[in-house]
Amino acid sequence: MNNTFKAAILVFASVISLGAQAAGDIEAGKAAAQKYNCFTCHGQDYNTPIDPSYPKLAGQHKDYLEHALIAYQRGAKGPNSRSNAIMEGQVKQLSKQDVQNIAAYLSSLPGSLVVRK
Ligand code: HEC
Repeated sequence: MNNTFKAAILVFASVISLGAQAAGDIEAGKAAAQKYNCFTCHGQDYNTPIDPSYPKLAGQHKDYLEHALIAYQRGAKGPNSRSNAIMEGQVKQLSKQDVQNIAAYLSSLPGSLVVRK
């Protein structure tokens, strides 16, 4: 394998991994959801929450999940904010990358929500 070819492969591989990051990394999202204990309320499969008033997240649109998490991070401040005592505490610790990764993971799961993709 000559060096030009190796360099081309490296460039190609980094473009792919950058793309994966921007779109959210499912495996990293799974690890983050585990680390931050999201399952303790939303259910291990994210489709059977511990209380019927808690939302199902499995299979929800990724954009929607991202939007909801960012809105909770804003709390009661201004437009596009969502105030909830429980969730505001949960999302404080999440980085922007965590939000994207968790949204990618949750949307990849099979669920009973009616969403058209
Ligand atoms: C202590 C219980 C609890 C924990 C832990 C928890 N949640 Fe929630 N979550 C809730 C409740 C209750 C709501 C509904 C709040 C509302 O009415 O806005 C909610 C709402 C949400 C929503 C909005 C869903 C929708 O359909 O609009 C998302 C997304 C979400 N949680 C993700 C997470 C993530 C990611 C974590 C882990 C970082 C997490 N939750 C941890 C209880 C919890």
